[in-house]
Amino acid sequence: MIFEPLRYEHLKQMAAIEPEAFSAPWTERMFIPEVESDRAFYKVGVNGSEVICYGGFHKIFDEAHITNIAVKKEYRGKGYGKLLLSELISLAKLNGVNSMTLEVSVNNHRARNLYESFGFVPSGIRKKYYPDGADAIIMWKNLI
Ligand SMILES: CC(C)(COP(=O)(O)OP(=O)(O)OC[C@H]1O[C@@H](n2cnc3c(N)ncnc32)[C@H](O)[C@@H]1OP(=O)(O)O)[C@@H](O)C(=O)NCCC(=O)NCCS
Repeated sequence: MIFEPLRYEHLKQMAAIEPEAFSAPWTERMFIPEVESDRAFYKVGVNGSEVICYGGFHKIFDEAHITNIAVKKEYRGKGYGKLLLSELISLAKLNGVNSMTLEVSVNNHRARNLYESFGFVPSGIRKKYYPDGADAIIMWKNLI
């Protein structure tokens, strides 16, 4: 697998992965501004033409707000999530980011374990943030 910057050609496969990853999936159309925006930073892990994983953030001042992180279902639990997150952290550092933040469902133990192992620290709760009524944990990681 290699990582590429986000391109239009990736969007169809990403939109197919979204419903198996998120309760409020993004559509292909919702990703279009992400390809075009100067403040959106994405990496897509591909094996040939197959999208394996993708993730990105919006840079707001010196902060990176992570938007999506997803690994295609059949590839989960094989270390791709870790590769992706370290790629995003490097991308953030290279672009002058000093801290990263994200929301994760209290019920998403796999993702919470991943983020905690990379030094993300819980810093607050957004009550009933998700469509299923689950609370979101807000996490931050300092990069400096
Ligand atoms: C969360 C997600 C990105 C992790 O990617 P992944 O490739 O499955 O994860 P990895 O194989 O790299 O494992 C990374 C860490 O996650 C945790 N993890 C992985 N599988 C796990 C499981 N079955 N149960 C609990 N924790 C698990 C572990 O901490 C693991 O590190 P370790 O192997 O050193 O113990 C992926 O599962 C996914 O796409 N899930 C659906 C979308 C999602 O929830 N995104 C995050 C929203 S905030």
